[in-house]
Amino acid sequence: MFKRGRVNGLPYFRVMYTIPFFSMARQHQKINRELGEAFAKIVKNGWFILGEQGVLFEKEFAQYQKTKYCIAVGNGHDALFISLKALGIGLGDEVIVPSHTCQATWLAVINTGAKLVPVEVESSTFNIDPGRIENSITKKTKAIVPVHLYGHPCTMDKIMTLAKRFNLYVVEDNAQAQGAFYKSRMTGSWGHCNATSFYPTKILGALGDGGAIMTSDRKIAEFAMAFRNYGSEKKDVHALLGINSRLDEVQASVLRIKLKRLSIWNENRRKNANLYFEHLKNVGDIQVPPSGNMNEKPVFHQFVIQTKSRDKLKKQLERKGIETAIHYPTPVHLQKAYQYLGYKKGSLPIAEKLSQNVLSLPIWLGLEAKEIEKVCKEIRKFYSGKAGIYS
Ligand SMILES: Cc1ncc(COP(=O)(O)O)c(C=O)c1O
Repeated sequence: MFKRGRVNGLPYFRVMYTIPFFSMARQHQKINRELGEAFAKIVKNGWFILGEQGVLFEKEFAQYQKTKYCIAVGNGHDALFISLKALGIGLGDEVIVPSHTCQATWLAVINTGAKLVPVEVESSTFNIDPGRIENSITKKTKAIVPVHLYGHPCTMDKIMTLAKRFNLYVVEDNAQAQGAFYKSRMTGSWGHCNATSFYPTKILGALGDGGAIMTSDRKIAEFAMAFRNYGSEKKDVHALLGINSRLDEVQASVLRIKLKRLSIWNENRRKNANLYFEHLKNVGDIQVPPSGNMNEKPVFHQFVIQTKSRDKLKKQLERKGIETAIHYPTPVHLQKAYQYLGYKKGSLPIAEKLSQNVLSLPIWLGLEAKEIEKVCKEIRKFYSGKAGIYS
């Protein structure tokens, strides 16, 4: 289970899990040849940034999302940041975000200069509680950023209705939910301008950083296209001060190859989630994530359970060679970098409780039924007391 070795004379120590939390190996086995051919073509063409592959990927991803435009950028943070900038959000504005999310959601808002207004999530769905949003709207509120956390869709119809009533923009953070649906419409296509990430562990993962903006508004698309490239509308013309956030040709070609298979891969993910639901019924105090219904079709970027014995269970699974993860062990408002916002322990109790109770089980592409059954068997053993440590 452990691997020791030396690299350039320096010792290293790595835990080798029988079931790692994440692996791309089996996913890539199936597309290795195609990847190799695509890379060779890029090297031969000699064009590496904002080229043919990027343009084709943008077209194909917009078709997939059913939005008019897709603008590929360097990462998910920048996709959010540029979306907010495109909507004119900045100093003096307020933006509503969920209390429980990846810190990048908060950081993108802060980087625009706008004031961040966190709203608590529903602990059952992990997503922003639409019933709590209205109380946080002020005259300065400009936008709501719902995050489809762990691949579970937010209640988008309620959020869009609220936004319309108060004349607000909606920017979906779809970094974890490519392929999820809310009421037969894909997440990432509801808001005025939406953002996603292609970080390798994401549902549609590149071999490095990547992200995209999805919108059906031509003006927003044109702004984003220029802003990501130093504010350049066309070569040597800079009408605005932008940033450098471009998707390279290698990542675009990887994403094109994977996008063709995404719907099938997502169905496999859902099948694996169903196995977890089946095998984790009435086990200990475990609360499983929402499985979806007529209106909500999640995509299970993570399979996140809640339990009071989280830390002990995690340790026991590790002993059995099963790696798990915690998303997220410290809520954003209690991270040192965000202390200046003035939130204290107890400010956002739901987010704080989730950070203590959530545990993400392995659900990567290519994980086999017998491996999921093994994870569940060890979990059941833990709660039955056979592992001797459940309290
Ligand atoms: C919900 C959410 N938003 C934003 C991001 C930022 O994406 P990236 O890491 O590509 O900048 C991530 C990924 O880490 C995320 O999970």
